[in-house]
Amino acid sequence: MRSKLAVVILAGGQGTRLKMNVPKALCPLLGKVLIDYVLKSVDDFQLESAQYTQISVVTGHLHEQVESYISERYSQVSFAFQKKQLGTAHALQSYFEGISNAWEHEYTLVTCADTPLIGADVFCSLLETMRKDKSLDAVVATFKAQNPFGYGRIVEGNIGLDIVEEKDASQEQKEINIVNSGVYLFKTEHIKKRLFDIANTNKSNEFYLTDLFKREYKVKALRFDDETRFLGVNNLVQLEAASSILQKRKIQELQEQGVRFINSSSCYIEQDVQISRGCAIYPNVVIEGETSIGEGVLVESGSVIKNSSIHAGVRIFANSYIEDATIGEACLIGPMARIRPGSEMGTRVKVGNFVETKKSKLREGVSVSHLSYIGDAEIGENTNIGCGFITCNYDGAQKHKTIIGKDCFIGSDTQVVAPITIGDGVFVASGSTINQDLPSDSFAIARARQITKEKLAKKFIKTKNTKK
Ligand code: UD1
Ligand code: MG
Repeated sequence: MRSKLAVVILAGGQGTRLKMNVPKALCPLLGKVLIDYVLKSVDDFQLESAQYTQISVVTGHLHEQVESYISERYSQVSFAFQKKQLGTAHALQSYFEGISNAWEHEYTLVTCADTPLIGADVFCSLLETMRKDKSLDAVVATFKAQNPFGYGRIVEGNIGLDIVEEKDASQEQKEINIVNSGVYLFKTEHIKKRLFDIANTNKSNEFYLTDLFKREYKVKALRFDDETRFLGVNNLVQLEAASSILQKRKIQELQEQGVRFINSSSCYIEQDVQISRGCAIYPNVVIEGETSIGEGVLVESGSVIKNSSIHAGVRIFANSYIEDATIGEACLIGPMARIRPGSEMGTRVKVGNFVETKKSKLREGVSVSHLSYIGDAEIGENTNIGCGFITCNYDGAQKHKTIIGKDCFIGSDTQVVAPITIGDGVFVASGSTINQDLPSDSFAIARARQITKEKLAKKFIKTKNTKK
Protein backbone atom coordinates (compact mmCIF):
# COMPACT_ATOMS: atom_id res chain seq x y z
CA MET A 1 0.00 0.00 0.00
CA ARG A 2 1.32 3.50 -0.80
CA SER A 3 0.93 6.09 1.87
CA LYS A 4 0.51 9.85 1.50
CA LEU A 5 2.16 10.38 4.84
CA ALA A 6 5.54 9.32 6.16
CA VAL A 7 6.47 9.37 9.83
CA VAL A 8 10.12 9.82 10.71
CA ILE A 9 11.34 9.20 14.24
CA LEU A 10 14.71 10.76 15.00
CA ALA A 11 16.67 8.36 17.19
CA GLY A 12 20.27 8.85 16.20
CA GLY A 13 21.42 10.73 19.25
CA GLN A 14 23.78 9.25 21.79
CA GLY A 15 21.91 10.43 24.84
CA THR A 16 25.14 11.51 26.52
CA ARG A 17 23.24 13.32 29.26
CA LEU A 18 21.55 10.06 30.33
CA LYS A 19 24.97 8.60 31.25
CA MET A 20 23.81 5.06 30.47
CA ASN A 21 25.40 2.31 28.44
CA VAL A 22 22.46 1.94 26.09
CA PRO A 23 21.53 4.15 23.14
CA LYS A 24 18.95 6.73 24.18
CA ALA A 25 16.11 5.16 22.19
CA LEU A 26 16.56 1.95 24.21
CA CYS A 27 16.65 3.61 27.61
CA PRO A 28 14.39 1.50 29.90
CA LEU A 29 11.08 2.92 31.05
CA LEU A 30 8.53 0.85 32.99
CA GLY A 31 9.31 -2.45 31.30
CA LYS A 32 9.62 -0.95 27.85
CA VAL A 33 12.13 1.37 26.22
CA LEU A 34 11.75 5.03 25.23
CA ILE A 35 11.07 4.47 21.56
CA ASP A 36 8.29 1.92 22.28
CA TYR A 37 6.10 4.74 23.54
CA VAL A 38 6.56 6.86 20.42
CA LEU A 39 5.97 3.86 18.16
CA LYS A 40 2.75 3.10 20.09
CA SER A 41 1.54 6.68 19.59
CA VAL A 42 2.33 6.50 15.88
CA ASP A 43 0.35 3.28 15.72
CA ASP A 44 -2.61 4.91 17.52
CA PHE A 45 -2.32 7.83 15.11
CA GLN A 46 -2.68 5.50 12.13
CA LEU A 47 -5.84 4.06 13.63
CA GLU A 48 -7.35 7.37 14.76
CA SER A 49 -6.65 9.23 11.54
CA ALA A 50 -7.43 6.20 9.35
CA GLN A 51 -4.20 7.20 7.69
CA TYR A 52 -1.80 4.51 6.60
CA THR A 53 1.71 5.79 7.16
CA GLN A 54 5.16 4.61 6.32
CA ILE A 55 7.26 4.61 9.48
CA SER A 56 11.02 5.12 9.47
CA VAL A 57 13.49 5.49 12.28
CA VAL A 58 16.76 7.40 11.87
CA THR A 59 19.42 5.55 13.84
CA GLY A 60 22.99 6.50 14.60
CA HIS A 61 24.78 5.75 17.84
CA LEU A 62 24.83 1.94 18.41
CA HIS A 63 22.39 1.62 15.51
CA GLU A 64 22.56 -2.20 15.28
CA GLN A 65 21.10 -2.47 18.79
CA VAL A 66 18.30 -0.04 18.08
CA GLU A 67 17.48 -1.64 14.74
CA SER A 68 17.43 -5.19 16.05
CA TYR A 69 15.26 -4.23 19.05
CA ILE A 70 12.70 -2.56 16.80
CA SER A 71 12.66 -5.09 13.98
CA GLU A 72 12.13 -7.96 16.43
CA ARG A 73 8.97 -6.28 17.72
CA TYR A 74 7.53 -4.16 14.93
CA SER A 75 7.01 -5.13 11.35
CA GLN A 76 6.96 -2.43 8.68
CA VAL A 77 9.45 -0.07 10.26
CA SER A 78 12.32 1.00 7.99
CA PHE A 79 15.66 2.35 9.09
CA ALA A 80 17.93 5.08 7.82
CA PHE A 81 21.41 5.25 9.25
CA GLN A 82 22.97 8.59 10.20
CA LYS A 83 26.68 7.94 10.28
CA LYS A 84 27.70 11.03 12.25
CA GLN A 85 25.35 12.97 14.48
CA LEU A 86 25.66 16.42 12.94
CA GLY A 87 22.28 17.70 14.02
CA THR A 88 18.57 17.16 13.53
CA ALA A 89 18.51 18.51 9.95
CA HIS A 90 21.36 16.19 9.10
CA ALA A 91 19.35 13.32 10.62
CA LEU A 92 16.45 14.14 8.30
CA GLN A 93 18.86 14.32 5.35
CA SER A 94 20.00 10.80 6.23
CA TYR A 95 16.37 9.70 6.09
CA PHE A 96 15.84 11.13 2.61
CA GLU A 97 19.12 9.63 1.42
CA GLY A 98 18.46 6.26 3.01
CA ILE A 99 14.81 5.55 2.24
CA SER A 100 14.19 5.10 -1.47
CA ASN A 101 10.58 6.31 -1.67
CA ALA A 102 10.93 9.06 0.93
CA TRP A 103 10.21 11.89 -1.54
CA GLU A 104 7.02 10.26 -2.76
CA HIS A 105 4.91 11.11 0.28
CA GLU A 106 2.90 14.29 0.22
CA TYR A 107 3.51 14.92 3.94
CA THR A 108 6.38 14.06 6.26
CA LEU A 109 5.81 14.06 10.01
CA VAL A 110 8.94 14.29 12.16
CA THR A 111 9.06 13.41 15.82
CA CYS A 112 11.74 12.41 18.33
CA ALA A 113 12.39 9.13 20.10
CA ASP A 114 12.89 10.88 23.42
CA THR A 115 9.34 12.16 24.07
CA PRO A 116 7.54 9.10 25.46
CA LEU A 117 4.43 10.97 26.62
CA ILE A 118 3.54 12.24 23.19
CA GLY A 119 0.04 11.16 22.25
CA ALA A 120 -1.54 10.41 18.88
CA ASP A 121 -3.78 13.49 19.32
CA VAL A 122 -0.78 15.79 18.70
CA PHE A 123 -0.09 14.11 15.36
CA CYS A 124 -3.80 14.20 14.45
CA SER A 125 -4.08 17.93 15.20
CA LEU A 126 -1.02 18.74 13.08
CA LEU A 127 -2.47 16.79 10.17
CA GLU A 128 -5.84 18.47 10.52
CA THR A 129 -4.22 21.93 10.53
CA MET A 130 -2.29 21.22 7.35
CA ARG A 131 -5.34 19.76 5.63
CA LYS A 132 -7.48 22.78 6.49
CA ASP A 133 -4.97 25.28 5.13
CA LYS A 134 -3.48 23.84 1.98
CA SER A 135 -1.16 26.82 1.57
CA LEU A 136 0.85 25.88 4.68
CA ASP A 137 4.30 24.36 4.20
CA ALA A 138 4.84 23.23 7.78
CA VAL A 139 3.32 23.20 11.27
CA VAL A 140 5.22 22.82 14.53
CA ALA A 141 3.66 21.73 17.81
CA THR A 142 4.48 24.27 20.51
CA PHE A 143 3.66 24.80 24.17
CA LYS A 144 4.16 27.26 26.96
CA ALA A 145 7.02 25.97 29.10
CA GLN A 146 7.23 26.67 32.81
CA ASN A 147 10.96 26.55 32.35
CA PRO A 148 11.88 27.14 28.70
CA PHE A 149 15.60 26.50 29.24
CA GLY A 150 17.04 24.20 26.58
CA TYR A 151 14.12 24.42 24.18
CA GLY A 152 14.01 26.24 20.85
CA ARG A 153 12.05 29.51 21.30
CA ILE A 154 9.24 30.42 18.93
CA VAL A 155 9.73 33.92 17.51
CA GLU A 156 6.59 34.85 15.59
CA GLY A 157 6.89 36.89 12.36
CA ASN A 158 4.24 38.43 10.11
CA ILE A 159 3.89 35.36 7.90
CA GLY A 160 5.77 32.56 9.60
CA LEU A 161 8.06 32.13 12.58
CA ASP A 162 11.67 31.54 13.54
CA ILE A 163 12.80 28.88 15.95
CA VAL A 164 15.82 30.04 17.90
CA GLU A 165 17.86 27.52 19.89
CA GLU A 166 18.89 28.24 23.48
CA LYS A 167 22.54 28.72 22.58
CA ASP A 168 21.76 31.16 19.77
CA ALA A 169 19.04 33.16 21.51
CA SER A 170 19.49 36.78 22.54
CA GLN A 171 18.69 37.75 26.12
CA GLU A 172 15.34 39.06 24.93
CA GLN A 173 14.54 35.84 23.03
CA LYS A 174 15.45 33.76 26.06
CA GLU A 175 12.54 35.42 27.88
CA ILE A 176 10.10 33.78 25.43
CA ASN A 177 8.41 30.79 27.01
CA ILE A 178 6.57 29.49 23.94
CA VAL A 179 8.81 26.68 22.76
CA ASN A 180 9.34 24.05 20.10
CA SER A 181 8.21 20.54 21.08
CA GLY A 182 10.30 18.86 18.36
CA VAL A 183 7.22 17.51 16.55
CA TYR A 184 6.57 18.84 13.04
CA LEU A 185 4.50 18.13 9.99
CA PHE A 186 5.94 19.24 6.66
CA LYS A 187 4.87 19.24 3.07
CA THR A 188 7.56 17.02 1.61
CA GLU A 189 7.92 19.56 -1.20
CA HIS A 190 8.99 22.20 1.37
CA ILE A 191 11.68 19.88 2.72
CA LYS A 192 12.85 19.11 -0.81
CA LYS A 193 13.36 22.79 -1.58
CA ARG A 194 15.28 23.64 1.58
CA LEU A 195 16.66 20.76 3.64
CA PHE A 196 19.95 20.37 1.82
CA ASP A 197 20.63 24.11 1.88
CA ILE A 198 20.60 24.36 5.66
CA ALA A 199 23.96 25.54 7.01
CA ASN A 200 25.59 24.87 10.35
CA THR A 201 26.52 28.48 11.00
CA ASN A 202 25.28 28.61 14.58
CA LYS A 203 26.78 28.36 18.05
CA SER A 204 26.63 24.54 18.07
CA ASN A 205 27.89 24.09 14.50
CA GLU A 206 25.01 21.70 14.01
CA PHE A 207 22.56 21.40 11.15
CA TYR A 208 19.27 22.44 12.73
CA LEU A 209 16.00 21.02 11.48
CA THR A 210 14.36 24.06 13.00
CA ASP A 211 15.85 26.08 10.10
CA LEU A 212 12.98 24.76 7.98
CA PHE A 213 10.98 27.39 9.86
CA LYS A 214 11.54 31.06 8.99
CA ARG A 215 9.45 34.15 9.49
CA GLU A 216 9.10 34.52 5.71
CA TYR A 217 7.94 30.92 5.11
CA LYS A 218 4.30 29.77 5.10
CA VAL A 219 4.73 27.97 8.39
CA LYS A 220 2.69 27.99 11.55
CA ALA A 221 2.84 27.08 15.23
CA LEU A 222 0.08 24.97 16.74
CA ARG A 223 -0.05 25.57 20.49
CA PHE A 224 -0.93 22.78 22.94
CA ASP A 225 -1.73 23.58 26.54
CA ASP A 226 -0.57 20.46 28.35
CA GLU A 227 3.18 20.62 28.76
CA THR A 228 3.66 17.11 30.17
CA ARG A 229 3.00 15.33 26.88
CA PHE A 230 6.11 16.97 25.40
CA LEU A 231 8.42 16.06 28.25
CA GLY A 232 11.74 15.21 26.64
CA VAL A 233 13.93 12.59 28.31
CA ASN A 234 17.47 13.93 28.10
CA ASN A 235 18.69 13.06 31.60
CA LEU A 236 17.84 10.77 34.53
CA VAL A 237 15.78 13.43 36.30
CA GLN A 238 13.50 13.72 33.26
CA LEU A 239 13.45 9.92 32.96
CA GLU A 240 12.08 9.59 36.47
CA ALA A 241 9.57 12.37 35.83
CA ALA A 242 8.26 10.58 32.72
CA SER A 243 8.17 7.30 34.62
CA SER A 244 6.14 8.70 37.48
CA ILE A 245 3.56 10.27 35.14
CA LEU A 246 3.12 7.00 33.22
CA GLN A 247 3.01 5.07 36.50
CA LYS A 248 0.25 7.28 37.90
CA ARG A 249 -1.79 6.81 34.72
CA LYS A 250 -1.38 3.04 34.89
CA ILE A 251 -2.39 2.85 38.54
CA GLN A 252 -5.41 5.06 38.01
CA GLU A 253 -6.50 2.80 35.15
CA LEU A 254 -6.21 -0.24 37.45
CA GLN A 255 -8.07 1.51 40.26
CA GLU A 256 -10.90 2.30 37.87
CA GLN A 257 -11.05 -1.42 37.06
CA GLY A 258 -11.43 -2.25 40.76
CA VAL A 259 -7.88 -2.91 41.94
CA ARG A 260 -7.28 -1.68 45.49
CA PHE A 261 -3.88 -0.21 46.30
CA ILE A 262 -3.07 0.52 49.93
CA ASN A 263 -0.26 2.90 48.96
CA SER A 264 0.16 3.03 45.22
CA SER A 265 3.03 5.51 45.24
CA SER A 266 5.26 2.90 46.88
CA CYS A 267 4.51 0.30 44.18
CA TYR A 268 6.15 -0.26 40.81
CA ILE A 269 3.79 -1.65 38.18
CA GLU A 270 5.01 -1.97 34.59
CA GLN A 271 2.92 -0.97 31.61
CA ASP A 272 1.92 -4.42 30.31
CA VAL A 273 0.84 -5.79 33.69
CA GLN A 274 -2.82 -6.81 33.91
CA ILE A 275 -4.60 -6.98 37.24
CA SER A 276 -8.26 -7.93 37.61
CA ARG A 277 -10.92 -6.46 39.85
CA GLY A 278 -11.08 -7.33 43.50
CA CYS A 279 -7.30 -7.58 43.92
CA ALA A 280 -5.58 -5.90 46.85
CA ILE A 281 -2.01 -4.69 46.38
CA TYR A 282 -0.18 -3.81 49.56
CA PRO A 283 2.64 -1.22 49.79
CA ASN A 284 6.08 -1.88 48.27
CA VAL A 285 4.96 -4.36 45.66
CA VAL A 286 6.78 -4.73 42.32
CA ILE A 287 4.97 -6.29 39.36
CA GLU A 288 6.87 -6.50 36.10
CA GLY A 289 6.73 -7.65 32.50
CA GLU A 290 3.84 -9.58 31.05
CA THR A 291 2.23 -10.52 34.32
CA SER A 292 -1.48 -11.19 34.56
CA ILE A 293 -3.31 -11.43 37.85
CA GLY A 294 -6.81 -12.88 38.14
CA GLU A 295 -9.68 -11.68 40.31
CA GLY A 296 -9.48 -11.33 44.07
CA VAL A 297 -5.74 -11.88 44.47
CA LEU A 298 -3.94 -10.54 47.53
CA VAL A 299 -0.33 -9.41 47.14
CA GLU A 300 1.32 -8.49 50.41
CA SER A 301 4.19 -6.07 50.95
CA GLY A 302 7.64 -6.64 49.58
CA SER A 303 6.57 -9.17 46.97
CA VAL A 304 8.05 -9.12 43.47
CA ILE A 305 6.24 -10.75 40.55
CA LYS A 306 7.77 -10.95 37.07
CA ASN A 307 6.30 -12.36 33.84
CA SER A 308 3.92 -14.67 35.67
CA SER A 309 0.34 -15.76 35.48
CA ILE A 310 -1.44 -15.63 38.82
CA HIS A 311 -4.94 -17.09 38.83
CA ALA A 312 -7.97 -15.96 40.79
CA GLY A 313 -8.08 -16.09 44.57
CA VAL A 314 -4.34 -16.59 45.10
CA ARG A 315 -2.80 -15.12 48.24
CA ILE A 316 0.80 -14.06 48.03
CA PHE A 317 2.11 -13.31 51.49
CA ALA A 318 4.88 -10.84 52.29
CA ASN A 319 8.29 -10.81 50.63
CA SER A 320 7.71 -13.54 48.07
CA TYR A 321 9.59 -13.53 44.76
CA ILE A 322 7.83 -15.04 41.74
CA GLU A 323 9.35 -15.19 38.25
CA ASP A 324 8.18 -16.82 34.97
CA ALA A 325 5.70 -18.98 36.85
CA THR A 326 2.07 -20.05 36.73
CA ILE A 327 0.16 -20.08 39.99
CA GLY A 328 -3.21 -21.85 39.91
CA GLU A 329 -6.43 -20.72 41.55
CA ALA A 330 -6.55 -20.24 45.32
CA CYS A 331 -2.90 -21.11 45.95
CA LEU A 332 -1.20 -19.80 49.09
CA ILE A 333 2.33 -18.56 48.51
CA GLY A 334 4.82 -17.39 51.13
CA PRO A 335 5.59 -15.44 53.15
CA MET A 336 9.15 -15.44 51.84
CA ALA A 337 8.72 -18.02 49.11
CA ARG A 338 10.91 -18.04 46.04
CA ILE A 339 9.12 -19.28 42.95
CA ARG A 340 11.67 -19.53 40.16
CA PRO A 341 11.18 -19.85 36.39
CA GLY A 342 9.24 -22.84 35.13
CA SER A 343 7.26 -23.38 38.32
CA GLU A 344 3.68 -24.43 37.58
CA MET A 345 1.13 -24.86 40.31
CA GLY A 346 -2.33 -26.36 40.08
CA THR A 347 -5.22 -25.15 42.21
CA ARG A 348 -5.00 -24.85 46.01
CA VAL A 349 -1.26 -25.54 46.22
CA LYS A 350 0.42 -24.32 49.37
CA VAL A 351 4.02 -23.16 49.26
CA GLY A 352 5.09 -21.75 52.59
CA ASN A 353 7.98 -19.81 54.05
CA PHE A 354 11.55 -20.37 52.83
CA VAL A 355 10.46 -22.72 50.10
CA GLU A 356 12.15 -22.51 46.71
CA THR A 357 10.68 -24.09 43.58
CA LYS A 358 12.20 -24.22 40.11
CA LYS A 359 11.09 -25.89 36.84
CA SER A 360 8.59 -27.97 38.77
CA LYS A 361 4.94 -28.94 38.52
CA LEU A 362 3.04 -29.04 41.77
CA ARG A 363 -0.41 -30.44 41.07
CA GLU A 364 -3.68 -29.59 42.77
CA GLY A 365 -3.63 -29.62 46.56
CA VAL A 366 0.12 -30.20 47.01
CA SER A 367 1.46 -28.72 50.22
CA VAL A 368 5.10 -27.73 50.83
CA SER A 369 4.81 -25.55 53.86
CA HIS A 370 8.31 -24.95 55.17
CA LEU A 371 12.01 -24.68 54.30
CA SER A 372 12.29 -26.85 51.19
CA TYR A 373 13.86 -26.94 47.73
CA ILE A 374 11.94 -28.41 44.84
CA GLY A 375 13.80 -28.34 41.52
CA ASP A 376 13.12 -30.24 38.27
CA ALA A 377 10.27 -32.13 39.90
CA GLU A 378 6.68 -33.23 39.38
CA ILE A 379 4.55 -33.76 42.41
CA GLY A 380 1.11 -35.41 42.19
CA GLU A 381 -2.24 -34.28 43.63
CA ASN A 382 -2.62 -33.82 47.37
CA THR A 383 0.88 -34.95 48.26
CA ASN A 384 2.17 -33.48 51.49
CA ILE A 385 5.81 -32.57 51.74
CA GLY A 386 7.16 -32.07 55.25
CA CYS A 387 9.55 -29.45 56.51
CA GLY A 388 13.12 -29.35 55.20
CA PHE A 389 12.65 -31.46 52.08
CA ILE A 390 15.27 -31.34 49.30
CA THR A 391 15.31 -32.61 45.73
CA CYS A 392 19.01 -33.33 45.12
CA ASN A 393 18.70 -32.55 41.43
CA TYR A 394 22.26 -31.68 40.46
CA ASP A 395 25.22 -34.05 40.24
CA GLY A 396 27.74 -31.34 39.54
CA ALA A 397 27.32 -31.61 35.79
CA GLN A 398 23.68 -32.30 35.01
CA LYS A 399 20.23 -31.73 36.41
CA HIS A 400 17.99 -34.74 37.05
CA LYS A 401 14.29 -35.16 37.52
CA THR A 402 12.24 -36.15 40.55
CA ILE A 403 8.77 -37.58 40.09
CA ILE A 404 6.54 -38.05 43.11
CA GLY A 405 3.01 -39.46 42.73
CA LYS A 406 -0.25 -38.33 44.27
CA ASP A 407 -1.45 -38.69 47.88
CA CYS A 408 2.04 -39.26 49.26
CA PHE A 409 3.32 -38.26 52.67
CA ILE A 410 6.97 -37.26 52.59
CA GLY A 411 8.30 -36.84 56.12
CA SER A 412 10.34 -33.86 57.24
CA ASP A 413 14.07 -33.63 56.60
CA THR A 414 13.96 -35.96 53.63
CA GLN A 415 16.22 -35.76 50.61
CA VAL A 416 15.50 -37.52 47.34
CA VAL A 417 18.47 -38.08 45.06
CA ALA A 418 17.40 -37.59 41.43
CA PRO A 419 16.78 -39.12 38.99
CA ILE A 420 14.12 -40.81 41.02
CA THR A 421 10.49 -41.90 40.72
CA ILE A 422 8.21 -42.33 43.67
CA GLY A 423 4.76 -43.87 43.08
CA ASP A 424 1.34 -42.88 44.45
CA GLY A 425 0.34 -43.15 48.10
CA VAL A 426 3.91 -43.61 49.31
CA PHE A 427 4.95 -42.86 52.90
CA VAL A 428 8.54 -41.76 53.48
CA ALA A 429 9.67 -41.57 57.08
CA SER A 430 11.32 -38.40 58.37
CA GLY A 431 15.05 -37.96 58.01
CA SER A 432 15.35 -40.33 55.06
CA THR A 433 17.72 -40.05 52.15
CA ILE A 434 15.95 -41.80 49.30
CA ASN A 435 18.07 -42.80 46.31
CA GLN A 436 16.07 -45.74 44.95
CA ASP A 437 12.70 -45.62 43.21
CA LEU A 438 9.69 -46.43 45.38
CA PRO A 439 6.63 -48.31 44.10
CA SER A 440 3.11 -47.06 44.85
CA ASP A 441 1.78 -47.68 48.36
CA SER A 442 5.24 -48.51 49.75
CA PHE A 443 6.75 -47.31 53.01
CA ALA A 444 10.38 -46.24 53.07
CA ILE A 445 12.71 -45.38 55.89
CA ALA A 446 16.37 -44.64 55.24
CA ARG A 447 18.14 -43.39 58.35
CA ALA A 448 20.49 -44.80 60.96
CA ARG A 449 18.77 -46.79 63.70
CA GLN A 450 18.50 -45.01 67.03
CA ILE A 451 20.46 -46.25 70.03
CA THR A 452 19.30 -45.20 73.53
CA LYS A 453 21.53 -45.73 76.57
CA GLU A 454 19.88 -44.83 79.82
CA LYS A 455 21.68 -42.61 82.35
CA LEU A 456 24.65 -42.07 80.07
CA ALA A 457 23.90 -38.41 79.40
CA LYS A 458 26.01 -37.12 82.30
CA LYS A 459 29.13 -38.39 80.62
CA PHE A 460 28.54 -36.17 77.65
CA ILE A 461 26.94 -33.07 79.15
CA LYS A 462 29.58 -30.51 80.03
CA THR A 463 28.97 -27.21 81.78
CA LYS A 464 31.55 -24.55 82.76
CA ASN A 465 31.38 -25.25 86.47
CA THR A 466 31.36 -29.03 86.33
CA LYS A 467 34.13 -30.57 88.46
CA LYS A 468 35.47 -33.80 87.16
C1 UD1 B 1 15.44 19.82 19.77
C2 UD1 B 1 15.10 21.10 18.96
C3 UD1 B 1 14.55 22.14 19.93
C4 UD1 B 1 13.35 21.60 20.63
C5 UD1 B 1 13.68 20.28 21.34
C6 UD1 B 1 12.42 19.63 21.88
C7 UD1 B 1 16.70 21.24 17.10
C8 UD1 B 1 17.88 21.94 16.55
N1 UD1 B 1 16.28 21.62 18.32
O1 UD1 B 1 16.48 20.12 20.67
O2 UD1 B 1 14.17 23.33 19.20
O3 UD1 B 1 12.84 22.54 21.54
O4 UD1 B 1 14.27 19.36 20.41
O5 UD1 B 1 12.73 18.50 22.65
O6 UD1 B 1 16.16 20.37 16.44
N2 UD1 B 1 19.03 13.37 16.74
C9 UD1 B 1 19.51 12.61 15.70
N3 UD1 B 1 20.65 12.99 15.08
C10 UD1 B 1 21.35 14.10 15.43
C11 UD1 B 1 20.88 14.88 16.50
C12 UD1 B 1 19.71 14.49 17.14
O7 UD1 B 1 18.90 11.61 15.33
O8 UD1 B 1 22.39 14.37 14.81
C13 UD1 B 1 17.79 12.98 17.39
C14 UD1 B 1 17.96 12.65 18.87
O9 UD1 B 1 18.20 11.26 19.04
C15 UD1 B 1 16.62 13.06 19.46
C16 UD1 B 1 16.15 14.17 18.53
O10 UD1 B 1 16.89 14.06 17.35
O11 UD1 B 1 15.69 11.99 19.44
C17 UD1 B 1 16.33 15.56 19.14
O12 UD1 B 1 17.68 15.76 19.44
P1 UD1 B 1 18.14 16.42 20.80
O13 UD1 B 1 19.62 16.44 20.85
O14 UD1 B 1 17.41 15.82 21.95
O15 UD1 B 1 17.63 17.93 20.53
P2 UD1 B 1 17.26 19.00 21.62
O16 UD1 B 1 18.51 19.64 22.09
O17 UD1 B 1 16.35 18.41 22.60
MG1 MG C 1 15.81 16.36 23.21
